[in-house]
Amino acid sequence: MTRILVTGGAGFIGSHVVEALTSAGHEVRVLDALLPCVHPGGIPPFSGDPGFDFVHGDVGTYRTDVSYDAVIGRHILIHTPDPRVVVGLAHSLLTPGGVAVFQEYDFSVVHRPFAEAPLYERLLEVFRAFFAKAGHGNIGTRLFQLLIEAGFRPPECRVEYPMDGGADSPFYEWVAESFRSILPRAAALGLVGGDEVAGIDSLARRLKEETISHGGCVPGPAMVGCFARKR
Ligand SMILES: C[S@@+](CC[C@H](N)C(=O)[O-])C[C@H]1O[C@@H](n2cnc3c(N)ncnc32)[C@H](O)[C@@H]1O
Repeated sequence: MTRILVTGGAGFIGSHVVEALTSAGHEVRVLDALLPCVHPGGIPPFSGDPGFDFVHGDVGTYRTDVSYDAVIGRHILIHTPDPRVVVGLAHSLLTPGGVAVFQEYDFSVVHRPFAEAPLYERLLEVFRAFFAKAGHGNIGTRLFQLLIEAGFRPPECRVEYPMDGGADSPFYEWVAESFRSILPRAAALGLVGGDEVAGIDSLARRLKEETISHGGCVPGPAMVGCFARKR
């Protein structure tokens, strides 16, 4: 059994990761800030005894004496003022030989959908503009250097992203949740209109309708995944 810290583990993909790790018998702690835009009311998406330990906190300020065999973070650094703080924290929490696993976007990669998908392309335009102003739009490609600078061995990296369609795909909910996570800040920067804010609850359904109406599929934004061991 390994002890694993999953940062942002209450998110849409994070919670699936946590479920898989817990069912495989690992000891899991979830650290999540429960961003109000993703979790209205500050309520985590699990109750009772979920089979893992949950800590409500921000990964930028988290402190603990517990050490971990693995620290996982997905789409956390892109939201963080100084990504070096979080990568450094992961390094300090790991046992020697322990592994850090990060996955982050690179919005400089452009892969257009087929057939045309104006709603989806509009979302990508907002993501690109938002992270160019407020975040680190190419953080996925910076991961390699960030991990080395924090003291890790050279990481193994992969660039990949789903390309999906059809009525049963989880893609639409995933994209809608990601959009929800930037919506208040994108609105404050004047990057989205009032109708886009008001329409957030129907976004997943509209994306699905757009995609299945022409039988096409949509490529997700490019993501870089890196695995790095502590020396
Ligand atoms: C950033 S969102 C990304 C969601 C995206 N749909 C995905 O593909 O996973 C994932 C989770 O990270 C949490 N989160 C964001 N910033 C955080 C931080 N600084 N510390 C801890 N959790 C954070 C959110 O509350 C949310 O549950």
